[in-house]
Amino acid sequence: MQPFTFQTVPQIILQSGAAARLGELLSQRYPVGRVCVITDAFLHRSGLLAPALDSLRARRWQVQVVDDVQADPPEHVVETVAARARDFGTQVVLGLGGGSSMDVAKLVAVLLAGPQPLAQMYGIDKVQGERLPLVQVPTTAGTGSEVTPISIVTTGATTKSGIVARQLYADMAILDATLTTGLPSAMTAATGIDAMVHAIEAFTSKRLKNPLSDHLALLALRLLSQNLVKACEDGQDLPAREAMLLGAMLAGQAFANAPVAAVHALAYPLGGRFHLPHGLTNALVLPHVLRFNAEAAAGHYAALAEVLVPGVQGSDAAKTAAFIARVEALAAATRLPLRLRDHGVGEADLPLLAADAMQQTRLLVNNPREVAEADALAIYRRAY
Ligand SMILES: NC(=O)c1ccc[n+]([C@@H]2O[C@H](COP(=O)([O-])OP(=O)(O)OC[C@H]3O[C@@H](n4cnc5c(N)ncnc54)[C@H](O)[C@@H]3O)[C@@H](O)[C@H]2O)c1
Ligand SMILES: [Fe+2]
Repeated sequence: MQPFTFQTVPQIILQSGAAARLGELLSQRYPVGRVCVITDAFLHRSGLLAPALDSLRARRWQVQVVDDVQADPPEHVVETVAARARDFGTQVVLGLGGGSSMDVAKLVAVLLAGPQPLAQMYGIDKVQGERLPLVQVPTTAGTGSEVTPISIVTTGATTKSGIVARQLYADMAILDATLTTGLPSAMTAATGIDAMVHAIEAFTSKRLKNPLSDHLALLALRLLSQNLVKACEDGQDLPAREAMLLGAMLAGQAFANAPVAAVHALAYPLGGRFHLPHGLTNALVLPHVLRFNAEAAAGHYAALAEVLVPGVQGSDAAKTAAFIARVEALAAATRLPLRLRDHGVGEADLPLLAADAMQQTRLLVNNPREVAEADALAIYRRAY
């Protein structure tokens, strides 16, 4: 058997309503003190966080809410949030929001624990020292960031860069589906497709594919594919929301250990240059990358077809075709506009995007088929 290692967050709590018990859950793990809640201004203003904040205060936690996070957080936002958290004398860092808030929370936890500057952390295993206690509470069912050792930062004007380090695994992830019932349909679709892509790319990861990630990816894909459209059509469907949140977390555990590949490599330039939501950028390139990979990954896609198209028959090639058709049909059923031209991307932008995608070597090495710049351009043209 191929040797492998598998890591994840040590404590995961899934309970609808758990956010309203946050003070109790934190007090079970840490001495009561100063907790810095990292989130974005929209979520803070919306009142969604109020039960969680009330519960912390009821347990005598001193709470500072830092709501400066922006989607696809740029470096200066990470620095600002870290400075505010430092001024407060933070003892526990709590990410409460989507992937952007959780990614910033991870970096704040390491920045506050040692002298290493953010600029030296990019890449794999570049973080030195330890971190402050860290708890993550997702409000989207998408990134799985609550259980990944990854933070994505927008560096410069347009580039999205990753920091991957064992210190970024949280101590505890708390999954409360009631936090996600207000997520609008388009965001539900985009974040849910992001999670599906995590499961698909973990299952086909060329370098670090492993049996535990495979198992988690299959379960994730089942939950996500069966509940995505339900959650989009009726946001208040709590069982569907719970299944999506669990599926996104399982997919996160899978790709934390068997990393994502070309879908994400081609998605990031769209996020960096056009500021489109991360999940949407994945959805836009997804079927085209799957077709590009189809031959190289046919065995794996055929296995995934068994989950998405129960009872599927035929050769691996036939099952792969059924798999890709089902993924496309699911994305279409969410009613997201799925062409690049629908989102302000011009045909003349495509060569620039292809050149950018080539910079995502961290991800491209995991793809089942090698991607050259001309291939990336051809994929963007099909997505256009
Ligand atoms: N760390 C990882 O492993 C990982 C994996 C994939 C993506 N990412 C990164 O995560 C970020 C994307 O995260 P995301 O897709 O969760 O979105 P997000 O955190 O960027 O949030 C997007 C928007 O949704 C809103 N929102 C969040 N929860 C809501 C709710 N319950 N109700 C209503 N509105 C809500 C936010 O206020 C924000 O305006 C990107 O920067 C991406 O690169 C990280
Ligand atoms: Fe993603």
